[in-house]
Amino acid sequence: MSSIACKADFPLLSQQVHGRRIVYLDSASSSQRPQVVLDTMDDYYRTTHANVHRGIYAIAEEADRRYEGARMAVGGFIGAPDPEHEVIFTKNTTEAINLVSSSWGRCNLRAGDAVLLTDMDHHSNIVPWLTLAEERSLELRWLGIDEQYRLDLSELDHQLDGVKLVACTAMSNVLGTIPPFAQIAERAHSAGALVLADAAQLVPHLPTDVGSLGCDFLAFSAHKMLGPTGIGVLWARRALLEEMPPFLGGGGMIRDVRHDGFSANVLPWKFEAGTPPIAEAVGLGAAVGYLESTGMEAVRKHEMNLTSYALDTLSERFGENLRIFGPPDAEERGGVISFAYRDVHPHDMAQVLDQSGVCVRAGHHCTKPLMRHLGVSATARASLYLYNDESDVDALAEAMAKADTLFG
Ligand SMILES: Cc1ncc(COP(=O)(O)O)c(C=O)c1O
Repeated sequence: MSSIACKADFPLLSQQVHGRRIVYLDSASSSQRPQVVLDTMDDYYRTTHANVHRGIYAIAEEADRRYEGARMAVGGFIGAPDPEHEVIFTKNTTEAINLVSSSWGRCNLRAGDAVLLTDMDHHSNIVPWLTLAEERSLELRWLGIDEQYRLDLSELDHQLDGVKLVACTAMSNVLGTIPPFAQIAERAHSAGALVLADAAQLVPHLPTDVGSLGCDFLAFSAHKMLGPTGIGVLWARRALLEEMPPFLGGGGMIRDVRHDGFSANVLPWKFEAGTPPIAEAVGLGAAVGYLESTGMEAVRKHEMNLTSYALDTLSERFGENLRIFGPPDAEERGGVISFAYRDVHPHDMAQVLDQSGVCVRAGHHCTKPLMRHLGVSATARASLYLYNDESDVDALAEAMAKADTLFG
């Protein structure tokens, strides 16, 4: 059934914990890295490192080439029409969204303007807008969730009236729901709104094309897509970026500085203040290369099959004792499986699973409004990636059965 057999490429996955093979089911939080990403970063530090955009000696020029090469690779991966100018390296998804709220938001949103969010958004795509709403007296509106854990779009056109920006997750990190993003974007544009995609969970798992999605801004993190921590990406349409003021001030983002002011650098450096995450960009480029050589269609197919297998296996084995939060059809969702097991607290469940080497996340997953909607304070969450296989799902089921015995 599973067509990708790549566990051996990921050194961490050959480890043991508590005397057991590690079963890593927390990739929605942060993925593991293949050897090629580790080697590429190691090689960069050993052979090339110098600061970028400053030196005129050979290794500095090579560092520039590798850093800007990563930008082009990332742009190609998401179908950016003009990667050289439109791909901005940030610290992570959170910083990319804060860049939009601080720069575009402060310039374009006035008292009474509305921003439309959803009940399934991550705090990273809520708090920046709450902050700006308070500062600018904006109205925040919320798309709800139906019984099938889909976004409720029944009132969308009405809710879009007067909205300047729709900021929406492209895949829920708790439910796995994949909203019909292109349809939402089309309707938002017809209503005169721009659209931001929080693609932290989309880009690592599905083929992504900013043109087909129809978004104006797209944010994601390298560490969830086999790359290093400390680097994320904001893609935006060039015309928007040209109009936006710098987000952070400092070296690299200026063209000139005087006693009475400064002029900003050209794109994309206008938004990259200070020494950027150079080795991390090079590592992200290698991660993109690895995903491209596997093929994102193949990644999606593998995860869909495995999610289907997991949903069937767990439902058959645990029946009514198990509540899975998310669409039942694997075609409509990613491989994020949040669950409640009887009245076992998710933290207790995660601790017991850990004794069997199974790593899952327990908590509110930075989605407090969603937890309130679900009527729970936390869930346990197993999340799948290309290196997982049926044996990992079977190990999860076995470990859950042990928890069942333990909690009586
Ligand atoms: C949907 C979603 N958005 C945003 C984020 C924030 O990502 P980061 O912590 O890398 O900024 C996450 C992380 O879990 C996420 O799942």
